[in-house]
Amino acid sequence: MPGSDVMNTITTSPGPFVTLTLNRPDVRNAFNEELIADLTAWAEQAAAANDIRAVVLRGAGKTFCAGADVNWMAKTVTYTRDENLADAKRMRRMFEALDELPFPLIGRVHGAALGGGAGLAAICDIVVAAETATFGFTEVKLGILPAVISPFALRKVGISAARELFLTGARFSAARAREIGLVHAVVPEMELDDAVDGFLREIESAAPDAVAEAKRMIREVAGRVGDEAEITAAAIAERRVSPEGQEGLRAFLEKRTPAWRAR
Ligand code: COA
Repeated sequence: MPGSDVMNTITTSPGPFVTLTLNRPDVRNAFNEELIADLTAWAEQAAAANDIRAVVLRGAGKTFCAGADVNWMAKTVTYTRDENLADAKRMRRMFEALDELPFPLIGRVHGAALGGGAGLAAICDIVVAAETATFGFTEVKLGILPAVISPFALRKVGISAARELFLTGARFSAARAREIGLVHAVVPEMELDDAVDGFLREIESAAPDAVAEAKRMIREVAGRVGDEAEITAAAIAERRVSPEGQEGLRAFLEKRTPAWRAR
């Protein structure tokens, strides 16, 4: 796991560098209960697998992701409040499980990333976007809210951009997305795969456990002021004496390739 699994709404390629494709192209990869369940199950299994070095998240067809499925959301008017809450919590769990993956998640965005699709971009560690891609926290245009995605999106774009973009629901360009930190590289659509490969090559040359710990450390330390010293000191104290840390330091001194590199 996760090999060449095919769930109904997502597909994955074999590891250690996995491509995870949202696969509801007819509705622009909008997520309904089934996609939420499939993605959550995949993320939980992938987090437990120890053979994955990075995952590229992309959308099948014309676009990355059009956010929550409007048909599904409209249907929730017949749910009780408890059912609606449980439903929203399942969506929260999907974002959380993806956010906490112990390896880099790279978003490959073409077409559009709107509503929860922009939320998915926000939980990617690295986002590469086509220069023609459109982003938007469009929920208020539909009379709803960017609620479940707000903690993830706020952490990424900050309060100032969120105040403008959550309140207007306006669509914005890949260049703007890069300015506010939602996107890390903007390239012509034809060059998306090459740009993603460039990031994968960097990750391939980095020590896998160190990468996982760096990701965990960011989550633990972000937003803390003053009381983070213990965490950061302990993190480096443990890491430099770890087998991987020792291998990396010695490989550098001995001018050789560290053992974790495949080539
Ligand atoms: N939920 C459900 N269905 C959706 C959807 C969504 N979020 N987004 C698109 N679709 C459906 C459309 O209704 C359409 O269905 P149809 O073929 O039965 O008419 C189909 O996907 C294709 O959509 P279309 O708008 O024709 O495709 P496009 O490639 O021209 O544009 C988007 C793609 C994503 C830019 C556009 O569909 C859009 O703006 N969607 C709304 C996104 C949004 O605001 N999401 C926030 C939800 S909270």
